[in-house]
Amino acid sequence: MRVLGLMSGTSLDAVDAAVVEVEARGTTLDVSLTGWTEEPWPADLREAIVGWSEAAAVAPAELSSASMAIGELFADVAARAAASAGIPLQSIDLVASHGQTVHHHVDADGRAVGTLQIGQPAVIAERTGRTVVADFRPRDIAAGGQGAPLVSFVDALLFGEEARTVAALNLGGMANVTVVPAGAPFEAIAFDTGPGNSLIDGVARRLLGQPLDRDGAGAAAGRPSRSLVDQLMDDPYFHRAPPKSTGRERFGEAAVTRLVAAGRALGLDEFVVLATATELTARSVAGALARWSPAWPAVIHLSGGGTRNPALMSALERAMARETPSGAVLPRLQPVDDGGLPAAAKEALCFAVLGHEALHGRPNSLPGCTGARHPSVLGAIWPGDNYLELVGRVPPARDSSPRIARIVLSRSSADERRRVPA
Ligand SMILES: Nc1ncnc2c1ncn2[C@@H]1O[C@H](COP(=O)(O)OP(=O)(O)OP(=O)(O)O)[C@@H](O)[C@H]1O
Ligand SMILES: [Mg+2]
Repeated sequence: MRVLGLMSGTSLDAVDAAVVEVEARGTTLDVSLTGWTEEPWPADLREAIVGWSEAAAVAPAELSSASMAIGELFADVAARAAASAGIPLQSIDLVASHGQTVHHHVDADGRAVGTLQIGQPAVIAERTGRTVVADFRPRDIAAGGQGAPLVSFVDALLFGEEARTVAALNLGGMANVTVVPAGAPFEAIAFDTGPGNSLIDGVARRLLGQPLDRDGAGAAAGRPSRSLVDQLMDDPYFHRAPPKSTGRERFGEAAVTRLVAAGRALGLDEFVVLATATELTARSVAGALARWSPAWPAVIHLSGGGTRNPALMSALERAMARETPSGAVLPRLQPVDDGGLPAAAKEALCFAVLGHEALHGRPNSLPGCTGARHPSVLGAIWPGDNYLELVGRVPPARDSSPRIARIVLSRSSADERRRVPA
């Protein structure tokens, strides 16, 4: 089945699309990547919704019309992604769209009590004629989970190994990890460790007037303030046991304001504040692994835009070295690209897989990762012109294979991949 995955994260930097071939073979899911794109957000749309996760109020009129407009954007990106992969849009069987998170509501006790992703799937179905799966998170929350991190399902089944505990770390707006114990992918745990790029981006915007600390140049020009990092590590979120999830509601602009003010009070220059935000991010990731990883991972599969920030990468290496238990080996920090999965395509590919599983009525969540009471089929379906033909290809219940136990990314197609220009 040919699935087009669409993802836009909390950084609001780009809409990512991946065209993915997905085929079940018994309990193994064969996945190969045909093409992918990253398209920057149109400035006006981004401007309209940036800050909503922290806004005291957003009018229903604005929310509903933004959702329609973002649906148009997603439909356009899907069409362009298919075109640049050299594939007719009509040959796409399914579009799986994560949507744009505008609020992820976690209460004072750490329970997820609401989550809202917008970008009307109905518009995507209408414009493309393709069947759409979207709105993955609410069902997990309904089952008592965090509704996040959902890529953990793919992480566990794709990266899990028989003999070694491994981890996956995505440095997006937030940072999330999945730890997969040796030989036990269904026992994986996952959680958001805290900020990924959100504080670094925010400080860069405030103090350097730039949307990001490009190549970590700003942080590299300063040395982190140890005392300020220590103080910031007191945030109760870092001390809460998983499962847990977070967002810009906690580590967004208000947190940046506090960080910048604390830096100013200490008389720190902008590069020191940037280095401090970078160090905090790295320490919160390494500290969370040290505290909650059921076994020390041998390798950490890295993805997300944060991997393009060398200052963050070296801070992470140092922090992991400090946290590695005596007698254990420093985990190898391995970009997912090394395994044939382009980092920029990873999350869109993950949602393509989750959408494929939803269409087949198979659970696509892991309770150990999201904290839900049970695995669920996450995602709702918006029928396209191809809906009946598509469901006709789903094996009837008596023949359907049991739950997928393993995902295999075919290297050959990834090797033949073409980087599709936006
Ligand atoms: N060259 C670079 N130097 C420094 N940082 C970079 C660079 N390129 C990308 N980044 C960082 O990566 C971020 C985007 O990462 P990504 O797309 O993984 O996040 P996201 O869209 O929020 O996804 P998620 O859903 O995982 O939160 C940018 O906001 C920026 O902070
Ligand atoms: Mg992004």
